[in-house]
Amino acid sequence: MRLAHLSDLHLYPPGALRVADVLGRRTAGALNLFLMRKPAHAVDRAKAAVAAVIEAQVDHVIVTGDLTNLALEPEFALAAEVLAPLGGHERLSIVPGNHDYYTPAVIAMKRFEHWFGHLVWPSGEGDYPAHKDLQGVRLILARSATMPPPLCAHGWIGARQAATIETLACEARDMGLFPVLAVHHYIHVQHSVREITGFLVDRGRLRELIRTSGLGLMLHGHDHHPHEMVVAGSDGRRVPVIGCGSTTAFRPEQGVFGHFNIYEIANGRVTVQRWQAADQGDRYHPVAG
Ligand SMILES: [Fe+2]
Ligand SMILES: [Fe+2]
Repeated sequence: MRLAHLSDLHLYPPGALRVADVLGRRTAGALNLFLMRKPAHAVDRAKAAVAAVIEAQVDHVIVTGDLTNLALEPEFALAAEVLAPLGGHERLSIVPGNHDYYTPAVIAMKRFEHWFGHLVWPSGEGDYPAHKDLQGVRLILARSATMPPPLCAHGWIGARQAATIETLACEARDMGLFPVLAVHHYIHVQHSVREITGFLVDRGRLRELIRTSGLGLMLHGHDHHPHEMVVAGSDGRRVPVIGCGSTTAFRPEQGVFGHFNIYEIANGRVTVQRWQAADQGDRYHPVAG
């Protein structure tokens, strides 16, 4: 089973932001978008990553959230267009990021689920976590995006989702499937302001779940830099927890290139192939190590 992992595309179509959108909760995000993010994330890079994934002939693709910047309708439309070549429910899965849940109104109207629910649940709607049984793998899709205080990007799993993730992982092991959890927020400690403004509030709960539930792999986004760690399972398992980094971030002068990963999952083992944007940002190639 070959699984590709993309994240944090932060796509923005020129002209999508209207004056009315800049008011309220989106004010700081709009400033961030135009001062920082817009030059760093590009639609062409996302399309190049999609082309590279198709060329690599993977079985399934997971995108771990933050497809948009401000959860605007045109941003979702652009993300859907860019990702469409990857296929439907059987080939592509997506979990929401905090930027896809940017305002209470967007969450209430289920804008993310309107655009991408068909890639989460077979019927197009349901509760989180969802799951898909693929070739030897159970992919569990959880929601960590929530409505944090203004200027913050915290996440939350909650007791109900955690209990279902545990049940789904145990059931997968009984069925001979390798359980993989996909969620937007990370569980590591970041030594920056993000440690205050953007962490997963109940990450201790998720760490304990990884330790005890039989999960074989956790994939996440939110950290725009690649990050890998291992959580020791209570039964001696070593569970990789992997963030591929933003697929579209690109500031070569600062050593920031877009990333995605391809995982080969076989016989309970995970092998990671890391891909990176080339110098011009117009194509991706595997990197050594
Ligand atoms: Fe992000
Ligand atoms: Fe995020």
